[in-house]
Amino acid sequence: MRDQTLLLGQTLSFAQNPFETSPDQAAVHNARGAVLIENGVILAVGNADEMRAAHPLVRQVDYADGLILAGFVDAHVHYPQTAIIASWGKRLIDWLNSYTFPEEMRFGERAYADEISARYLNLTANHGVTTMVSYCTIHPESVDAFFGHAQKRGQRVVAGKTCMDRNAPERLRDTPQSAYDDSKALINTWHGVDRLNYAITPRFSPTSTPEQLDALGQLWREHPDCLMQTHLSEQTDEIEWVHDLFPNARDYLDTYEQFGLLGEKGLYGHAIHLEPREKDRLREVGAGLIHCPTSNTFIGSGLFDMGGLMAEGQRVGLASDTGGGSSFSMLRTMAAAYEVAQLRHTPLHAAQLIWLATQGSARALHMEDKIGNLAPGMEADVIVLDLASTPDIAQRSVRADSFWEALFPTIMMGDDRAVRATWINGVDVTTSP
Ligand code: GUN
Ligand code: ZN
Repeated sequence: MRDQTLLLGQTLSFAQNPFETSPDQAAVHNARGAVLIENGVILAVGNADEMRAAHPLVRQVDYADGLILAGFVDAHVHYPQTAIIASWGKRLIDWLNSYTFPEEMRFGERAYADEISARYLNLTANHGVTTMVSYCTIHPESVDAFFGHAQKRGQRVVAGKTCMDRNAPERLRDTPQSAYDDSKALINTWHGVDRLNYAITPRFSPTSTPEQLDALGQLWREHPDCLMQTHLSEQTDEIEWVHDLFPNARDYLDTYEQFGLLGEKGLYGHAIHLEPREKDRLREVGAGLIHCPTSNTFIGSGLFDMGGLMAEGQRVGLASDTGGGSSFSMLRTMAAAYEVAQLRHTPLHAAQLIWLATQGSARALHMEDKIGNLAPGMEADVIVLDLASTPDIAQRSVRADSFWEALFPTIMMGDDRAVRATWINGVDVTTSP
């Protein structure tokens, strides 16, 4: 028995990259569109009337003027920081020591890791985030919990055990060998199972010895289809610390590169204060630069150069950086990306912001053939936005004289109230009213 569903509403998909062509050429908006899904896959995207006529007996869900688009892809989060999001007033290293490390110690207890995994996945489903790339803690249990909950939901996620063998509290330290062994065992258990993918995860070079970075570089050579995630050049005092710890490195990126931790499937979070050599190497290998704008303003890290990096052809994704970022919302994240780009005098179009939160992040993960767009053959991770979700937004969008103008107030002022439905793997998981 075929289990097909026809979703009706406005639709938005991308035929091209809006950083490479005009937004109106790149994006395809249909004011009365439809999406046909079956068994977790998008079968067709088209006009409502034609699709209704072609599939008269199929179950229909009519979202009226709700906007149907691909689910958001959050390319850098720390799910264990869910309960300490929005902790006041520190710079990065202080913030890690005061809030993050004490909280991460709790994840050695499996029950706590289960509780926060479920909480995080529920909260983010309400925000329309259908895929995320998460750091776990040093405890393998924290990875088992997260993958286990995602698997039950049929969700496509990427995650990995955070590795640290120095400059962290004793209880949060592993060793080069145990980081290698535990990560390898987790890869064997989870990587490629259902929709789950493993990312080898050295937290950042200040918390790993050269021996640990070397062991993880070796592990990545043995499992080149895994992603690798880490942090790069987030704050200026962090960069000075890296220079002190690695006096022979040419720059921050070199502390990864010399140990085999630079590659096409590498995801480098923040990437704000980059040297010309670092930019050249990142572009040459096609690595993913992950922009975390609410985090960068919240922790006071700096202004990511979206205009310059896109113009030189870097692969850029967008992320909340929960809980260094101050919101789980990818709408709020897009608004912050817009504001950061404004401060750099390169305003981003609404189409570019939505693309970054869907296709852009999916491309950074090398998953753009599976997620991040409404197109036949893609996995059915789909959300529906209400473009008049609050009185504030409604009174602005009603005055809009184009689709983009109707959408932009939701990008700038919207939150989980704007997410009317979230479909993951072809199933409506919406829990909010
Ligand atoms: N650098 C190393 N660890 C972290 C983290 O947990 N959050 C942020 N924002 N930066 C980091
Ligand atoms: Zn991070």
